[in-house]
Amino acid sequence: MPLKIGIIGTGGIAEFHLRGYRRAKDIQLVACCDVMGERVKAFAEQHGFKRHYTDFRTMLAKEDLDAVSICTPNYAHKDPTIEALKRNVNVLCEKPTAMNAKEVKAMIQASRKSKALLTIGQHFRFDPKNQALKRMVDAGDLGSIYYGRSHSTRRVGIPGWGAFHIKEKSAGGPMIDIGVHALDLTLWLMGFPGVDSVTGQTYVKFGKTKEQYHTWGKIDPKTFTVEDFACGMARLSNGATLLIESAWASHTETESLLQVVLGDKGGVTAYPHRAYTVRNGTHVNIEFTELPEVEPHEEEVLWFVHCVRGEKENVVRVEETYQTMQIIDAVYKSAETGKEVVIKDHIPVPSKGSRK
Ligand SMILES: NC(=O)c1ccc[n+]([C@@H]2O[C@H](COP(=O)([O-])OP(=O)(O)OC[C@H]3O[C@@H](n4cnc5c(N)ncnc54)[C@H](O)[C@@H]3O)[C@@H](O)[C@H]2O)c1
Repeated sequence: MPLKIGIIGTGGIAEFHLRGYRRAKDIQLVACCDVMGERVKAFAEQHGFKRHYTDFRTMLAKEDLDAVSICTPNYAHKDPTIEALKRNVNVLCEKPTAMNAKEVKAMIQASRKSKALLTIGQHFRFDPKNQALKRMVDAGDLGSIYYGRSHSTRRVGIPGWGAFHIKEKSAGGPMIDIGVHALDLTLWLMGFPGVDSVTGQTYVKFGKTKEQYHTWGKIDPKTFTVEDFACGMARLSNGATLLIESAWASHTETESLLQVVLGDKGGVTAYPHRAYTVRNGTHVNIEFTELPEVEPHEEEVLWFVHCVRGEKENVVRVEETYQTMQIIDAVYKSAETGKEVVIKDHIPVPSKGSRK
């Protein structure tokens, strides 16, 4: 039986999901939805969807879908996800999981009640180089991990389309937009040990200036209501420390997604990918080679399709993203209050081998 697919939100990232679905076997592109009527009509016609809608509830009620990609702005992740899960439709929801940890919690509850599975678009986990690092960590090559650095900065990269720069629609700027990728990658390597406290600070140095030479596209500075730089430090529940830095605009390298994880037997970095250790009393650096070149968004969609069919195990658990979102919330709260934020709420991550 072909898998019946729907897409909610037919903007930029939806195109990447489509490329993944196109590569999957036995797929039917059944329905798509966007609040912009002309956009969704054009998307449906161009990509061969049978029907299109401007309301996700109507689409989910009328269509008998197996799986749906949620590709809407951050403010519209939670409701379509919960509605789909209620109808036992499997969900691949774009990052960040939601606007804040409270919304993620509601999504976790909905996923636990549903027969369907929920996974999140943290596509960096599907980069073979990151998977190579993860295998080293899981094999114990790093020993006891005590430190991580979660870094995502751009020189010029304030998104000039959609809702990215509007706080009420996106919840924040680079911290939640690209910082969520860096955090997911570092915390994944560190084993998602839980978060105990966070201190942070945010700045607006470029988004509100008249000279818009730091943007990707045009924005009206008056509508810019998020940070363009955030930094912080998190104390993790296993005693490890995580340093955080995220910028859409800064006088630095063009683009940097450098992640660092240190253990007492070895350390790894992602972007560039390297491992550092000692062999027979000599310090050695390990380079990775002969790994396949893939498009991680497409791999993520292919993996999702396998999970829906019960052929593979979900690798991006929504409970893991709860920890990421707790850190992001706390960086924003700490920036507002000038105080450290203590986190008491810990949701266990399901063990390996469980379907969801
Ligand atoms: N994983 C990645 O690398 C990556 C890259 C870009 C964007 N994203 C994420 O994907 C999401 C969308 O980003 P984008 O760049 O595609 O934005 P976009 O603005 O290009 O597209 C979003 C679309 O969703 C539609 N929409 C808004 N509210 C809706 C609703 N309630 N129901 C149906 N449609 C609705 C908008 O009209 C728009 O067409 C964001 O959450 C973003 O963080 C992820």
